[in-house]
Amino acid sequence: MCGIVGYVGGQSALDVVVAGLKRLEYRGYDSAGVAVLADGGLAAAKKAGKLVNLEKELVGRPLPAGATGIGHTRWATHGGPTDTNAHPHLDNAGRVAVVHNGIIENFAELRAELAERGHELVSETDTEVVAHLLAESFSSCGDLAESMRLVCRRLDGAFTLVAVHADEPDVVVGARRNSPLVVGLGEGEAFLASDVAAFIAYTRSAIELGQDQVVELRRDAEGGGAAGVSVAVTDFHGAPGEARSYHIDWDSSAAEKGGYDYFMLKEIAEQPKAVADTLLGRIDPAGSLTLDEVRIPDSVLREIDKIVVIACGTAFHAGMIAKLAIEHWTRIPCETELASEFRYRDPILDARTLVIAISQSGETMDTLMALRHAREQGAKVLAVCNTNGSTIPRESDAVLYTHAGPEVAVASTKAFLTQLIACYLVALYLAQVRGSKWGDEVRDVVRELSAVADRVERVLETMEPVRELARSLADKNTVLFLGRHVGYPVALEGALKLKELAYMHAEGFAAGELKHGPIALIEKDLPVVVVVPSPRGRSVLHDKIVSNIQEIRARGARTIVIAEEGDEAVVPYADHLIRIPATPTLLQPLVSTVPLQVFACELATARGNEVDQPRNLAKSVTVE
Ligand code: F6R
Repeated sequence: MCGIVGYVGGQSALDVVVAGLKRLEYRGYDSAGVAVLADGGLAAAKKAGKLVNLEKELVGRPLPAGATGIGHTRWATHGGPTDTNAHPHLDNAGRVAVVHNGIIENFAELRAELAERGHELVSETDTEVVAHLLAESFSSCGDLAESMRLVCRRLDGAFTLVAVHADEPDVVVGARRNSPLVVGLGEGEAFLASDVAAFIAYTRSAIELGQDQVVELRRDAEGGGAAGVSVAVTDFHGAPGEARSYHIDWDSSAAEKGGYDYFMLKEIAEQPKAVADTLLGRIDPAGSLTLDEVRIPDSVLREIDKIVVIACGTAFHAGMIAKLAIEHWTRIPCETELASEFRYRDPILDARTLVIAISQSGETMDTLMALRHAREQGAKVLAVCNTNGSTIPRESDAVLYTHAGPEVAVASTKAFLTQLIACYLVALYLAQVRGSKWGDEVRDVVRELSAVADRVERVLETMEPVRELARSLADKNTVLFLGRHVGYPVALEGALKLKELAYMHAEGFAAGELKHGPIALIEKDLPVVVVVPSPRGRSVLHDKIVSNIQEIRARGARTIVIAEEGDEAVVPYADHLIRIPATPTLLQPLVSTVPLQVFACELATARGNEVDQPRNLAKSVTVE
């Protein structure tokens, strides 16, 4: 939700900032803007629409060259996506520029206060007040970092702010509360960004800022940190702050399309590796699990009497599947709940509750707020997360990282599969620690998990008919998805992918629910995707869904059946049959989801939609 970049160093700030914004466009793409400090002044440009519009503007109206700058790519909250509402926002004298991610909740009263003192605010945003407040503070203290601290103390809500002032041409200042901000340290240069992807082309050395911290990057030959640039971190009151340095363990090629037309295609193709990487180092030679990062003592895990999984969107679907595995393998009651609903229903939690928070980005505000609520009630929180050092794992008692690598396409694919792997690992680990599964039973499942990467690869090799089918359905308005047991969340995930990418009416149903109402939607030639459970699992589950397929076919539906190799019972009722490798019942989503990702991606492409950046969405949802 909004991407932010700041730079100070020896290169052209404009080039570095625009290149960084390109990498962050997945976070929001309603409008974009930049500001650079040059020739004793400040020059800015901003434009509604995607970054490309800003780039065109900069060709027509170039900014002066400077070595300090900031930039922003926006997902609108306050005020529509117009040129005026685009960031950076400036004070009336045009000396301060600020970019912001988050929501300033008390902006209306601050705005009224500023208006009374004669400030003229021109946008509808909450951000603009910060530029004016910074200018006022700077005029009394003459120090941008100190001004930022003073202003932050007055703000309520969630914010990452990055600012420059024309009177301090070698300084960029950032601040964060509840929104991400990382520092990149290069040779004689330093970066600020919402995500390391913005500066990974220049450095793999990063500093993770803590909650309520202000950072000042100052070009200064005397300074510490990167040669020639000092980095000073404080809290909002000026006390020196601690910040963790780390090495980014992926390189810039991971955040590039690598020959694919879209990031989504690349990320779908990367799934076998992502799955294998997430298992790596977590299974000892004897086939038992060693989850070293799960720093909740086994003695505490043995006492857990309830598990609650919280997540949003695709991660929530992973959580629905996790519930079934957790309950089956550990016999601990488990609920999965939308993070956005969780804290509003007064959930019953105590020290024996384990909350599992699943989030690719680690920044989803709904999930963050839910986990904070859980911890306040005394529950232990385990994060399943893909983004090293992000807020959700930092605020949790323990973390199990998924190793999917950067996921850039807005629609989640490889993150989903790795979230499933991580959840299966957690469930098995609990079963191992509590003795609810014997060692050989754990090893059997681990063996199956280790075979999944190859199976996903096989699915990917057979996707051409799925792509053809998707193209042939490009003019349809509705597609339904049915599943039972673990197939139900897969159906929901298939429908979500189609909604967000193809902008079609797509709905997932538990197949058994159909006859309680939704079957009225079935009409001649309506495409219905059915996820069929393994016939080798519980036969009653399989038989029931075969009956459901017959029921909808009898009413004219065009059935698209996803079924295991060798499942002959479905053949007579499938207008289109998509085969997946045989996989144990609980693990089947790892293979059955993949054709649905390919289907949605191809259908969206056939409809001429922007696959990586669907309308109205952003990758990281840092507002509630
Ligand atoms: C859908 C999608 C979203 C995210 C959701 C949670 O393709 O990507 O539904 O899954 O916004 O995001 P994270 O996992 O970052 O918390």
